[in-house]
Amino acid sequence: MNLRLVSDDLVRAGISSVFVDTVDSTQDYALKMARSGAVSGTVTVARRQTAGRGRMGRPWLSPDGGLYASVVFRPRRPVEFWPGLTVRAGYSVVSSVRNAGLSQAVLKWPNDCLVGGRKLCGLLAESFPAEGFFVLGIGMNIAVSPELENAGTFSAGYDAVSLLELGNVDAERFCVRLLIDLLGELTAWDHGRPFDIEALSGMLWTDGEVTVVAGAGTVTGQVKGVDSAGRLVLVQPDQTEIRVLVD
Ligand code: BTN
Repeated sequence: MNLRLVSDDLVRAGISSVFVDTVDSTQDYALKMARSGAVSGTVTVARRQTAGRGRMGRPWLSPDGGLYASVVFRPRRPVEFWPGLTVRAGYSVVSSVRNAGLSQAVLKWPNDCLVGGRKLCGLLAESFPAEGFFVLGIGMNIAVSPELENAGTFSAGYDAVSLLELGNVDAERFCVRLLIDLLGELTAWDHGRPFDIEALSGMLWTDGEVTVVAGAGTVTGQVKGVDSAGRLVLVQPDQTEIRVLVD
């Protein structure tokens, strides 16, 4: 897969995009660009990362063959709405994967795309409200990679799965479409356009109990659904319902 072509195609589509071959983390690269005035919607794409990171300080293995991208976004929406953006982005990514023919893709709220119980993609939102922007990172396993296969379980206990192992997909075209659709969904979110709750509910992973780190504590329960703000509705062991939202 040639990620330089992906970045070039984004530019052709009118999107500000930068390709870097090898970088510590596209999150840090994008952060520097944001601080140097990069326009909202600027995408950084890398062939590989040497210090990719996931949520909760976990490392994100980033060998050649994956998509590693970070988007700088400067919302007009007040900061109190920002916690809904990860699930909105997750909805967009799972929709793109399903549109590519992988109808069994699900969203493990708020940020994991799983296929057959294995992890295809993760999202990482890092917010800088005082500076008026956030950086949204997406890491997706595209080509089958021995490094990932040998890593055993990763990222919260899931095995990895690769897009090309699952279907005959044009990798570059898929990545371009995915990133364009993601920017479109973020813009819709920023304009306050409501979520398609029905569509989101239809792609939600509901197979078991989850524990969500929310604020200083954790909540555990059975996944029941999502509400119009993108909050996860959980039924706790004592049968009370609780709604949670994370960054
Ligand atoms: C997760 O599932 O925990 C989130 C993984 C996010 C990984 C992406 S890869 C591109 C961007 N750069 C990083 O260092 N992390 C994100």
